Amino acid sequence: MSVQINNFSMAYTSAGQGAPVLFIHGYPLNRQMWQPQVDGLAAKARILAPDLRGHGDSQAVPGPYTMDLFASDLKVFLDTLDITQRVVVCGLSMGGYVAFAFYRKYAARIVGLILTATRAAPDSQEGKIGRDQAAGTAQENGVDAIVEAMLPKLVSPKTLERKPEVVAKVRAIMQHTSLEGVLGDLAGLRDRPDSTPTLGQIKIPTLILHGADDAIVPLKEAQAMQAGIAHARLEVIPDAGHLLNLEDPKTFNQAVGKFIQEL
Ligand code: MLT
Repeated sequence: MSVQINNFSMAYTSAGQGAPVLFIHGYPLNRQMWQPQVDGLAAKARILAPDLRGHGDSQAVPGPYTMDLFASDLKVFLDTLDITQRVVVCGLSMGGYVAFAFYRKYAARIVGLILTATRAAPDSQEGKIGRDQAAGTAQENGVDAIVEAMLPKLVSPKTLERKPEVVAKVRAIMQHTSLEGVLGDLAGLRDRPDSTPTLGQIKIPTLILHGADDAIVPLKEAQAMQAGIAHARLEVIPDAGHLLNLEDPKTFNQAVGKFIQEL
């Protein structure tokens, strides 16, 4: 399914009925990363999983893709689908940065927040340089070069060794990202604002989910978010890395299902 959002067509999955839960994917991924959540949670809620601009089956338009731009796309998406009920927003990594932007702009639209494999802090100076280097690599050698460099860091050593089907799926998902999408993301990621001041403003129930072996966002970032958000709960999933929802969908879905039911 797709809807027209401002200047591009946005592809999305909608499954199940009931309280809406908006799943926001990470970089350089797309909504296919939420398939285990569509399968495991659609009996409990209405799962909404869009492809952000430039990702998956959504149209690619020139960047930069700021976190604010993604957030306003998602607001138009909810409006277009006539979703007036407050939604649970679940963002993974870059999706978490977008969730913070969404909260700053449209707090009244959110009933609960799930922050997974993400951080409030902005890029360090070194991190910003890394984004520009990655953009150079993508321009010179294509999206595949980004995919192969990132893949071993995206899942835990245990997943890498024991779940080749998950690794193959992650590779295929990333390969479906356009060059424009990768470049648009990298510029937006590099320049994203510090969300640390937002933490103290969050007054809604918040669940933080993190993989114990996340090599991209260290666990201490999740602990810092928990310390900054009133009444946030942190659950750490053992043996999982940055893509914990794909690596251990059972544990991830149990945590999300419980959180939704308690709201
Ligand atoms: C992601 O998974 O969305 C990215 O790794 C986020 C980042 O690079 O900061």
